[in-house]
Amino acid sequence: MACVCGHGKENYEKYLAPLNEVFARFGREQDNLIPILQEAQEKYGYLPQDVLSEIAENLGLPLSKVYGVVTFYSQFHLEPRGKNVIRVCTGTACHVRGAAEVLKAIETELGIKSGGTTEDLEFTLETVACIGACGLAPVIMINDDTHGRLSPDSVAAILHSYRTKTEPAVAERAS
Ligand code: FES
Repeated sequence: MACVCGHGKENYEKYLAPLNEVFARFGREQDNLIPILQEAQEKYGYLPQDVLSEIAENLGLPLSKVYGVVTFYSQFHLEPRGKNVIRVCTGTACHVRGAAEVLKAIETELGIKSGGTTEDLEFTLETVACIGACGLAPVIMINDDTHGRLSPDSVAAILHSYRTKTEPAVAERAS
């Protein structure tokens, strides 16, 4: 199948190598569609169109069927995700204790809206219903970490602690 997202022809095989590992593990059985999608997403970080096309072709399924499954389950993502996933609880306890203001502060800090991902792929921002830590309201989760009793003023420092630490480019060039 031809690549639709601009990979050079010789790079396309390299691009598909992780997917071939998935087929080696799960075979090309239609019954394994969901585990194949899960593993492919694990390897690519999301499910690019080329990957979905290859899965459909290799399993002998219509692409529309594969898309149908991917869009049905919230665990699957068609767009790149940030390295850090922020989940802001908007359940009742968090709502009455200022979740909306916390969410707004995060949106302002990152320059994205809920459902968005920063351009540098550092953060994806989502809202969720109660995450079971109501006593700490308002609460957010970043990856598997819970941060509670937040105020809009406290979010910037927390987000900063998750940013990738990179050396200045100038230092790299100097070495
Ligand atoms: S409502 Fe936010 S943790 Fe329960």
